[in-house]
Amino acid sequence: MENRKIVVANLKMNMIVSDVSNYLKEVNDKIVSDRVIICPTSIYVPYFLQNKYKVGLQNTFLRSEGAYTGEISPKQASSMGITFTIIGHSERRMYFDENEITINKKILEALKYHLKVILCVGETLEEKNLLKTKQVLRRQIVRALTHISEEELENIIIAYEPVWAIGTSKTPTNDEIEKNIEYIKNVVNEKYSNTDIKVLYGGSINDKNINELNKIKNVSGFLVGGASLDPNKLFKIIEEVIE
Ligand code: PGA
Repeated sequence: MENRKIVVANLKMNMIVSDVSNYLKEVNDKIVSDRVIICPTSIYVPYFLQNKYKVGLQNTFLRSEGAYTGEISPKQASSMGITFTIIGHSERRMYFDENEITINKKILEALKYHLKVILCVGETLEEKNLLKTKQVLRRQIVRALTHISEEELENIIIAYEPVWAIGTSKTPTNDEIEKNIEYIKNVVNEKYSNTDIKVLYGGSINDKNINELNKIKNVSGFLVGGASLDPNKLFKIIEEVIE
């Protein structure tokens, strides 16, 4: 993957279909970079395809097909022209009990069908206060990357998303983010020495703080939740990071 920053918009479980249609009227003409990845609620994905930006899912399953009610497989996603999948978001770890074994299987399956994986990692507030951030990041990364080859790793991007910063209007300092990204890269390099993995930051990014966050030296882009629901905020973020 080339070394240029990306912006991922995670729309989560928001918008009804009429909102989607208004949203698309605003974004389709203005977002013309393939370094922007929009991840809508799955049922709306077809409306987002065939534009200049890329499309991702917010989750994919660990098998390719069969009797798995309610799930979407990487094979199906890739057959639709979807190119990215977010795996291991903290909301999925929290509400769907996704554990590291599941996350690892989901990554392996997604890679099989050539999706690019955005693997989310990050500590909770409790873990941060107990000074366990590094320990948590190490565990999440090492387990998620089990059985993944150096070649496959090229299709993985890590998003550092402290759980306490998601949807809270709180962000770590640039210095904290930079140090944790450096740590994540070091953990990856212990196993894959020739890699410079892309690490994004995510958590309470908005049109006001993006200028400051974009100064972080080792960040490869941003994963934006809430602010990406407002096209004007998203444009501002993209302008700052990409254009
Ligand atoms: P937020 O969400 O920008 O609303 O904090 C980020 C995320 O969960 O990816």
